[in-house]
Amino acid sequence: MQLINGKETSIAIQDELKIEVNKRVAEGHKRPHLAAIIVGDNPASRAYVGHKIKACEYVGFESTLVELPKTTNNAKLKEEVTKLNENNAIDGFIVQLPLPDHIDAQAILECVDPSKDVDGFHPVNAGKLSLGLPCFAPATPSGIVELLKRYHIETEGKHAVILGRSAIVGTPMTLLLSRNSNPGNCTVTMCHSRTQNLTEITRSADILIAAIGKTHFVTPDMIKPGAVVIDVGINRIADASRKSGSRLTGDVAMDQLGSDWDGHITPVPGGVGPMTIAMLLKNTLQASNA
Ligand code: GUN
Repeated sequence: MQLINGKETSIAIQDELKIEVNKRVAEGHKRPHLAAIIVGDNPASRAYVGHKIKACEYVGFESTLVELPKTTNNAKLKEEVTKLNENNAIDGFIVQLPLPDHIDAQAILECVDPSKDVDGFHPVNAGKLSLGLPCFAPATPSGIVELLKRYHIETEGKHAVILGRSAIVGTPMTLLLSRNSNPGNCTVTMCHSRTQNLTEITRSADILIAAIGKTHFVTPDMIKPGAVVIDVGINRIADASRKSGSRLTGDVAMDQLGSDWDGHITPVPGGVGPMTIAMLLKNTLQASNA
């Protein structure tokens, strides 16, 4: 079993960004500035946003956190988005998801200025991605592409199977891996909740990407020997042996594979998760250079 270490790779990318920022500041440019809006007190969202702010500090970016109560309505949230759109000091910003149920999340994402949409969630960026035009690509699938690149994993002509069709991961992942580029040039199959003969399809995957959000959904019988397995799942399950009473697990039953399994895999935690932050920072640097 060969581990793909996302934590280490994320730090390497952040160290590269730090050098680039120092260089640009020395040349008289301003520091890149990322803002995040968070609505409510979802503990996981708070932790994610906290990591993003800390990473900004690490690479030498400015950051701003806009914290709003969970009772915030659509109009007030749109007003906050508009303020960030119009604030020339801010290069890029994100609206942390999920938003409370009473908020029309899609309408909010569509209010974000596409040139500051470093999450790549605005329809303009999603559309440009599908056309192969320069744009902000969502951070999680970009981070996976970056891992494949830095681990020198051959993708050309390979069969990539993607489990999940979300707008944040599955759909953009399909587009990125089918592009005529390196990494890319995969033959991609996207699977979802209505897919038939799932095991037959996953067993033919040279690269298997699980982004469904179900603990240990992918079992060893679903994986081709020697495959590259990318686990995007971040699922919290009960674990009495931990002080917190719980732990994070992925969508892949990695423990059942055994250490003599012949293939590459991203662990959870420490795989895809940290890469998302590194790619968000990369997008923000790109926004500040525009
Ligand atoms: N919630 C889970 N992942 C993400 C992400 O990449 N960006 C934002 N804004 N919210 C998320």
